[in-house]
Amino acid sequence: MFSLRSASLLVPSARRASTRSAVAHSRLSSTVAKARGLTLPSFSMQNKVCLVTGAARGLGNEFCRAFVESGCTSLAIVDLKEEEAKRAADELKAEFEGNGHIDKGSLNIMGIACDVSSEVSVQKAFKEATTEFGRIDSVVASAGIVENYSAFDYPFDRIKRLYDINVHGAFFTAREAARRMIPDGGGSIVLVASMSAQVVNVPQPQTPYNASKAAVRHMASSLAVEWAKKNVRVNTLSPGYMLTKLTRTILEHDQELKRTWEALTPMGRMGDPEDLKGAVIFLASDASKFVTGSEVRVDGGYCVI
Ligand SMILES: NC(=O)c1ccc[n+]([C@@H]2O[C@H](COP(=O)([O-])OP(=O)(O)OC[C@H]3O[C@@H](n4cnc5c(N)ncnc54)[C@H](O)[C@@H]3O)[C@@H](O)[C@H]2O)c1
Repeated sequence: MFSLRSASLLVPSARRASTRSAVAHSRLSSTVAKARGLTLPSFSMQNKVCLVTGAARGLGNEFCRAFVESGCTSLAIVDLKEEEAKRAADELKAEFEGNGHIDKGSLNIMGIACDVSSEVSVQKAFKEATTEFGRIDSVVASAGIVENYSAFDYPFDRIKRLYDINVHGAFFTAREAARRMIPDGGGSIVLVASMSAQVVNVPQPQTPYNASKAAVRHMASSLAVEWAKKNVRVNTLSPGYMLTKLTRTILEHDQELKRTWEALTPMGRMGDPEDLKGAVIFLASDASKFVTGSEVRVDGGYCVI
């Protein structure tokens, strides 16, 4: 029988090799040409409905930008104050539709008020989002606070508030997300922890914060196992020191602290919120469809030394 393979045996080997390499080269260059400016389709957030808590500013807001840049057109920005959530939604829509990259009227971005430390409030926020969008595919729990008190000085009501937001808020968000995702075939939940889940930050004292983030990290692994067969993935995104309002407030009064943090970071700088975009899209999209219970640290190498 005459086959392509046997036909190739009739060609002298040097010519065969150069023909093969020419074909491979032309295939490669056409693939490269087509792919320029694009990425793997599995990273696309097109046709996915996303919800981000703590998204009126800071890292949560940056995650929203990353989603829109990756093709998401249905997005809920959830934050404590209604006017801030709605303003952030309007700003994002105006920015992306105004720069000509997205057709006017094609983005549906909602601003929803919610205190994540209240389960009833979280349930209401998800109800509002699903009433508008019909379903939810990817959720990021970014709402969180940090405070610096030494253990002896930390008032208990403040410690309790911190756990209510950072730990219980993440739990309520994940639970409500999974309740909505399971009947629709699954989804992806990203809990924002911190490198503080693993290391003790110095020199500032923040024991309850560090413990809250360790709780979030293990919560993600535990929920991942509970919901793995239901196709709901739960992962942790753990940033190092990033320049946001949260850290700027701390650094305003202490430039020396910034220098210390930079010196302790192998890459010698604080992170830009943009540095988290790739990681959040990886975890929220189908690119990570066999990844659950994992942590992605984005910390400039802080935790490895
Ligand atoms: N910035 C960093 O260096 C850094 C590093 C590691 C981890 N993190 C974590 O990343 C997350 C985001 O931090 P950030 O730097 O963007 O902070 P940020 O203060 O800039 O933003 C936090 C957002 O959460 C909202 N929020 C606070 N309490 C809330 C509540 N009860 N309900 C709903 N929303 C609430 C705030 O209004 C705000 O919009 C936090 O969980 C934080 O612990 C931040």
